[in-house]
Amino acid sequence: MSERTLLVTGGAGFIGSNFILQIAEQHPDWRIVNLDSLTYAGNLENLTQVEGSPNYTFVHGDICKEEDVERAFESCAGGGDVAVVHFAAESHVDRSILSGMPFVETNVKGTQVLLDSSRAKGVERFVHVSTDEVYGSLGATGLFHEGTPLAPNSPYSASKTASDLLVRAAHKTHGFPGLITRCSNNYGPYQFPEKLIPLLIANASEDKAIPVYGDGMQVRDWLYVRDHCEAILRVLTDGKDGEVYNIGGNNEYPNIEIVKMVLSILGKPESLITYVKDRPGHDRRYAIDASKIRDQLGWEPRHSFEQALPLTVRWYQSQDVWLQRVRSGEYRDYYQRQYGS
Ligand code: NAD
Ligand code: DAU
Repeated sequence: MSERTLLVTGGAGFIGSNFILQIAEQHPDWRIVNLDSLTYAGNLENLTQVEGSPNYTFVHGDICKEEDVERAFESCAGGGDVAVVHFAAESHVDRSILSGMPFVETNVKGTQVLLDSSRAKGVERFVHVSTDEVYGSLGATGLFHEGTPLAPNSPYSASKTASDLLVRAAHKTHGFPGLITRCSNNYGPYQFPEKLIPLLIANASEDKAIPVYGDGMQVRDWLYVRDHCEAILRVLTDGKDGEVYNIGGNNEYPNIEIVKMVLSILGKPESLITYVKDRPGHDRRYAIDASKIRDQLGWEPRHSFEQALPLTVRWYQSQDVWLQRVRSGEYRDYYQRQYGS
């Protein structure tokens, strides 16, 4: 496939920027249009490697606004078939506990605006990037599979569940070519340091306390971000319209073990660990059955945790300027300086 344009939403965020960099490497002939409103989580400094490339266009806009989505589609014109890869979202559970409305606005309304415009434009495909959190919480055993009942527990996961159902409804009602992916926790370069792994690298590097919620025995299934991006690409090229694909690393760890592993890689003392009040409604365990995407689309993670966790820690250490600019808020000036409006 060569004449193809990807309209990527939320491409200045953690996973979206990794996805764009990966596509630019693997499919340099594909055009990429990145529609992002640059919330606190959007950082164009993640994308300096593609900036200036003739096949990359940034559109500063909000998925909740039809006119912004229209502008993004105009930028796609003349680039062959258009497929949408939808990452844009409010993504942090703790923020959703403080205030749910931005989550409903972007994740629910924004997704519907994007679906309506995408249908009107006759897009080739629409991959909706969702999360395992829509399934709720597991006990000590068992795995989430695609048929597990949806039972979200936070305003974040409830809004993602609603967006999944809107994509499903567009397919059932209008035959819209929507596909849904549901992935477990990602780690890797360019993650905003409000999430566990970059937060703990950043804090420990400065000998600051590491906040561990509750007893630290909540379990997450960690996947290296590049493996997630490969899986999304596989769903985009080979997935079946209307289907849901779970994506996971088969790599479960309690939070406290992750914290201790990172401290050990950094050579920092466990005395930095500080147990704090638990997150309200905290999901106890996530674990993914990813056999459908493996058996039907031939995807499997390529990075082991033993390999990619130290790689990730080293990446943050080597990118101390990036990290400092994020932590100080300076990264937010980049758009103004580069694009001047
Ligand atoms: P992120 O918070 O790092 O990035 C979100 C991006 O969306 C930012 O660039 C932000 O500016 C943009 N955005 C937010 N609201 C917007 C709006 N109204 N219009 C346009 N752009 C907007 O998120 P992430 O961690 O990269 O997650 C990306 C997607 O993957 C999300 O949909 C999330 O639910 C899903 N997901 C994340 C993980 C994970 O571990 N991070 C795991 C599974 C699924
Ligand atoms: O499972 C996929 C989800 O993973 C994505 O849909 C979300 O967008 C993404 O943010 C992530 O959600 P989590 O809530 O699991 O990620 P977070 O990094 O916030 O927290 C991971 C675990 O670590 C969780 O059990 C809460 C705990 N934690 C987190 C922070 C920030 C702590 O103990 N201390 C902390 O300071």
